Amino acid sequence: MLMHIQAVLTPEEAAQYRRALVAADWVDGRVTAGYQSSRTKHNLQLAEDHPLAMELSDQIVQRLERHPLFMGAALPLKVFPPLFNRYEGGHSFGTHVDNAIRQVKGTPHRLRTDLSATLFLTEPSDYEGGELIIEDTYGTQSVKLPAGDMILYPATSLHHVLPVTRGARISSFFWIQSMVRDDARRALLFDLDVAIQRLAGEAPDHPSAVQLTGVYHNLIRMWADV
Ligand code: NI
Repeated sequence: MLMHIQAVLTPEEAAQYRRALVAADWVDGRVTAGYQSSRTKHNLQLAEDHPLAMELSDQIVQRLERHPLFMGAALPLKVFPPLFNRYEGGHSFGTHVDNAIRQVKGTPHRLRTDLSATLFLTEPSDYEGGELIIEDTYGTQSVKLPAGDMILYPATSLHHVLPVTRGARISSFFWIQSMVRDDARRALLFDLDVAIQRLAGEAPDHPSAVQLTGVYHNLIRMWADV
């Protein structure tokens, strides 16, 4: 399931992030790549322990924790501290799958990457190219979102980033370990959640609202690791 999460940041906040990030010290993006992906990865990143990366990363995680669509779609158990990348002057990232396990640098914390996320920080009109191409079960999807919006997709997907031929594309990217590791189960729970909320809004006293909420929680109980 691909999910477009709107307005994780407002356009003004995204612009603030961009201004701060543009002036930071960037390093070769291959610092976090595995052997295979390092051969096709051409971009820049902020070091994981860069103070600005850590500050913005904390803010993003706080936003996500209050974002109902993100919480319902991802059912997060752990969120990897968001990282930041920059593509410009022809930078691209060839087809790859993200590493299954990620360790947070300098800590004993590890997570299984069930979901990958890209939070766009540059307005699409400010750069050419740079689409995130995801091979989904329903075909190939091309993703280029307004600044402040995020795409959430199964980390099992093959994906790549097209060359940026004008301007600079700055984004945040990270991974989520979900309480429900299977994408199909997570999608089913999300559909049920949306239907329950609609029913609760339109017919709050309908007895099925309580019954279906019970089904939702019992499925979580059956499928969730916590
Ligand atoms: Ni990737």
